[in-house]
Amino acid sequence: MSDAPRIVVLPGDGIGPEIVSAAQRLLGAFGEFEFDERLLGGISIDAHGIALTDEVLEACLAADAVLLGAVGGPKWDTTDPAAPRPEQGLLGLRKGMGLYANLRPVRPSPALVGASPLREERIAGTDLLVVRELTGGIYFGDSGRDGDVAHDTCEYSVAEIERIARTAFEAARRRGEGSDRKPRVTSVDKANVLETSRLWREVVSRIGPEYADVELDHLLVDNAAMQLVSRPADFDVIVTENLFGDILSDESAMLTGSLGMLPSASLGVDGAPGLFEPVHGSAPDIAGKGIANPLATFLSVAMMLRHGLGRPDDAVRIEVAVDAVLERGLRTPDLAAGTLAPPPMPDVPAEVEVGTAEMTDAVLESLSV
Ligand code: NAD
Ligand code: IPM
Ligand code: MN
Repeated sequence: MSDAPRIVVLPGDGIGPEIVSAAQRLLGAFGEFEFDERLLGGISIDAHGIALTDEVLEACLAADAVLLGAVGGPKWDTTDPAAPRPEQGLLGLRKGMGLYANLRPVRPSPALVGASPLREERIAGTDLLVVRELTGGIYFGDSGRDGDVAHDTCEYSVAEIERIARTAFEAARRRGEGSDRKPRVTSVDKANVLETSRLWREVVSRIGPEYADVELDHLLVDNAAMQLVSRPADFDVIVTENLFGDILSDESAMLTGSLGMLPSASLGVDGAPGLFEPVHGSAPDIAGKGIANPLATFLSVAMMLRHGLGRPDDAVRIEVAVDAVLERGLRTPDLAAGTLAPPPMPDVPAEVEVGTAEMTDAVLESLSV
């Protein structure tokens, strides 16, 4: 039997298959991998009537890591509570694999500061990490309909909050290593309204002093949404519950210029396989056009190499290559957004609009130099 890492690959729906096959090409430059491609999401509903089968969950649990594209699309959108939905597959996978910690780093590539709708001087110096709780809260509480009434229940236990708080403090500590600034965790909640948030704040505040080298502050989520665009560079690690983390991470993506740039790692207990996927969805509006930005997925592959396969040097090689192709002016349409800039200075390359395949070729070429 080969000792190549075994990666379960879940292309999913929409642009999922396009970006995942680009990512497999990229991984080809890093040695041998055993890919086990499976169905998840809408494509699994079409084949099996459900978005995640037991076989696929078992294969994921037995893998070294799982690489996912995205799930969902208009074909399966329904408001019928009894009909299967692609997103159930993703939620089932997160829960079934025990992936309670979702890391979403937001580090705008220097070449892209002009691609964000925010002014450059606001974004300069931004380097933050959203630590999103991923297997609790309103996503997993009791829900249902009774006649004209529907409900979704938000529940958190002390143990769930403690473990994600520790993930955040430890991540902040690691990020602070070798730097002279004090690492900081900002805990985001809605403690002025929600009981789950009051418990959240109580538990995070109790854990905080165990990490005396890390500063802790708290923000209400509405205020946090505003502060993220007004002073993004002041944030270090943000820790928050499932729903708030979902929303704040898409908002933060625009600091990088596009949702197509944001990677993620979903991790459980030490030693268990992680799930690596871009933050964005299946982008049905551009699916099949060959123009999806593959960089969020490439950066997710970097997170897989770093957090899932213990290969931090290879992770850095990908991150450096991504920065380099952007430096050379290559832009998928989401980054160019119809405003391809002429070179501001003679030594700055003009921006060139490219598709998924050309972007992938360019990253592969940059790796080898
Ligand atoms: P989306 O993230 O798919 O797309 C939002 C916008 O960003 C679209 O205009 C899209 O074209 C653009 N975009 C996203 N990724 C891009 C990329 N890599 N390159 C270029 N442009 C990109 O969000 P949505 O439209 O609200 O959702 C579409 C479907 O995806 C829904 O069914 C939703 O449930 C699902 N979804 C899945 C995941 C996941 O699988 N992890 C995440 C979010 C949404
Ligand atoms: C994400 C997505 C998912 C979420 C959906 C598709 C279930 O938006 O990964 O951010 O809400 O967690
Ligand atoms: Mn989301």
